Amino acid sequence: MSPLFNKIIIASGPTLEPIDPVRFISNRSSGKTGFHLAMEAKARGIGPIVFITGPTFFLPPGVELILVETAQEMRAAIDGHFRQADVVIMAAAVSDYRSRKYYPDKLKKNGEKIILELVKTPDILLDLGRRKRKNQLLVGFAAETEDIFANAQKKLLAKNLDLLVLNEISEGNPGFGSDENQVYLLRRDAIKKIDKMKKSRVAAFIWDEILDLAGHGGR
Ligand code: C5P
Repeated sequence: MSPLFNKIIIASGPTLEPIDPVRFISNRSSGKTGFHLAMEAKARGIGPIVFITGPTFFLPPGVELILVETAQEMRAAIDGHFRQADVVIMAAAVSDYRSRKYYPDKLKKNGEKIILELVKTPDILLDLGRRKRKNQLLVGFAAETEDIFANAQKKLLAKNLDLLVLNEISEGNPGFGSDENQVYLLRRDAIKKIDKMKKSRVAAFIWDEILDLAGHGGR
């Protein structure tokens, strides 16, 4: 059987942006979504997978694993494989900001307050969207709380994505860290609601969509 793809990049987990030797900025991403996407691909014989992840307990076996911490490191790792990749899935919750300065000595708690200057991290996906070739598929994620469809549609176009997995974050659907999720799958021509279900099953729906976009049909 000829392989469907040359290479698949899955970026997963949070990124961790250091402030001083013991403190950092991060988020509540568990890395479960990226993990299940890798496991589902493997179950279907889809690969090879380069799995690039920030700190997480969820490390899939049988993939090329690249462990990173910061957004900068994640970008560099992805860049090293992007040219050969047919599919890039950005399931990582990249920290949007980092401390402008890294303090090599632990910050002292002398004063009543500390003012920390935060600067934006690179938007990896935006950059990949700009450099994407015709035969490459780019999958992004969005977590929205208001005007979810309008914002997601904007993101799909602005980042030049083929597929956007939209999480509506609410009390009943926290998304981050949870084992279950309710998402919408948005592509240029269609939108699909995926009922709340285990992240492992959501991963199957996402792969059905990717294979369809790649012209390889569903399961
Ligand atoms: O713009 P927003 O952060 O909502 O977009 C989320 C998508 O963009 C996710 O797929 C995430 O992995 C990616 N992203 C990125 N680099 C950033 C922020 C988000 O690649 N600095």
